[in-house]
Amino acid sequence: MTLCLATVIYLTGIVIYRLYLHPLAQFPGPWPAKVSGLHALYYAWRGDRHLMQARSHARYGDYVRLGPNYLSVASDLGLQEIYGTRANVQKSSFYHAFVAQKGAWSTFTSIDRSLHARKRRVLAPAMTERALKSMGRRINQCIDIFVTQLGRNADAESGWTPAVNMSELADHVAFDILGDLVFGEGSFQMLTSCANRYIVDLIVATSYWALLVGTFPLLRALPIIPLWFPELTRKRQAYLLFCQEKACQRMAKVGAPGPSPEEHSDLLLHLLSGRRHSDTHSHRFPDDQEPEPSASSPPPTAEIWAECRTLIVAGADTVATALAALTHYLVHNEGAYHRLEEEILTACPRLREVRFPGPRPAQCPYLDACIDEALRLSPPIPGPLPREVLRGGMALGRGRFVVPAGTVVATAAYALHRHPRYFPRPEVFWPERWMAGSAPGVTLATVRRARQAFCPFGFGARGCVGQSLAYGELRTLVVRMLGRYRIRLCRQVRVGEGPSAREIGMGGEEYRMLDRWTAQRDGPFVEFQSRPR
Ligand code: HEM
Repeated sequence: MTLCLATVIYLTGIVIYRLYLHPLAQFPGPWPAKVSGLHALYYAWRGDRHLMQARSHARYGDYVRLGPNYLSVASDLGLQEIYGTRANVQKSSFYHAFVAQKGAWSTFTSIDRSLHARKRRVLAPAMTERALKSMGRRINQCIDIFVTQLGRNADAESGWTPAVNMSELADHVAFDILGDLVFGEGSFQMLTSCANRYIVDLIVATSYWALLVGTFPLLRALPIIPLWFPELTRKRQAYLLFCQEKACQRMAKVGAPGPSPEEHSDLLLHLLSGRRHSDTHSHRFPDDQEPEPSASSPPPTAEIWAECRTLIVAGADTVATALAALTHYLVHNEGAYHRLEEEILTACPRLREVRFPGPRPAQCPYLDACIDEALRLSPPIPGPLPREVLRGGMALGRGRFVVPAGTVVATAAYALHRHPRYFPRPEVFWPERWMAGSAPGVTLATVRRARQAFCPFGFGARGCVGQSLAYGELRTLVVRMLGRYRIRLCRQVRVGEGPSAREIGMGGEEYRMLDRWTAQRDGPFVEFQSRPR
């Protein structure tokens, strides 16, 4: 009885503190979120965190408290203040959930800023134009197979293929490309064989696992996840093992006689040469930051595994979402579809010769506008990218607010991309908004305003290192696909279509995604017809 009473008094005290006395008490937000992290866990579990966040910002404004210690910001200024190079933040402990082996950090998971800078210096050279060019042959091979596959089983009379699930096809080509780039040629072969297609499912489960554990770390401390979601845990384990084996196989081949140097130009080779270089430098931590295990304490091989694992998720799943989403918006928007088709057929008459990284933006401006518009409406990482404020606190809103050290602050692409201040008629797929002078009301100023709030690749020093690779893949894929085929929506199978009318968003025309950290999606089902040559 006394224990019960003590518990009630304790919990009441916590609730009163969090609602009225907490340093974030001044910020509006749903009260269950202010009181407990279970609110965030609930939405993470359901997969509609991004919708809840967009709804909350529409209701409460730019600054919303979405956790006892978590402030969500939806403004271009917030983007600069939280992710800019001078921001007094580091990645939050949320990212611990992506670390499979103690101390084995990757570029994506490393929290300590100097450790991250060192890792990024190793990875970034692999993403330069020159380095990407050396990988072009493999990317083009995958794209060639993809384009051929789209036209399979066409009806002899009408020329139209049976409906295919674009989400699956996009997965297959994006994973084949990344598999080749990370683990060496022919690593996945999802386009041509079913054997490795199960990996996509393992990756969705791995991301979901990390999202749940990162959102509510107690799940890991008390081993609730294996009991609650045994399947998720098993799939994550399987993915970790799969990557480990693939990386070991690839590493064993390095230096072995056989493949030419050109064939060795891949991401893993870059990492290995970078590792040799960086292992000779000791890593010192600034006194004011909690020391993380240094890069040299775990076996360096574990870091290579970690890097490979995150590269596959970061680089394949995201591009696949972008390609599937863009296809969805094109088959639902006849005007945009025809304008893009015309641009491609005019600008690239020798379509077969279009190779990675695709046409230059100036050659096909509408293509880039369509890609950006799909990334705006359906950002492949739709949720918040949490950052923890460091000692000394942080000013937000040009000094209007000061939040103390330890606060988690974040901006979420999905919510910011639907802000009418930056994107008039935010729920409409309207590529013209990215091209000054292309439609009434679209000026240099409106395009600049939109650009300042556009963040599908994150922002600042922790922004996406693979952005050029992603744009190159997407440009080439779309040009080759639309250049070779007409595409139409399969009216009988309406998969992937928007959140219900109750939700924020576009209703039926929005590409439906579940926020599993990266986006889980399905469809659209589309049909292809070869163009006359
Ligand atoms: C449309 C495609 C892509 C999108 C939308 C995307 C989005 C993002 C975002 C939002 C982040 C920041 C994550 C955070 O702060 O937690 C990020 C980081 C990262 N991305 Fe991408 N990405 C894409 C493609 C790629 C590709 C093709 C690669 C490479 C193969 C890649 C590799 C990475 C890596 C390594 C990081 C961590 C960077 C760092 O912390 O320094 N991404 N990406």
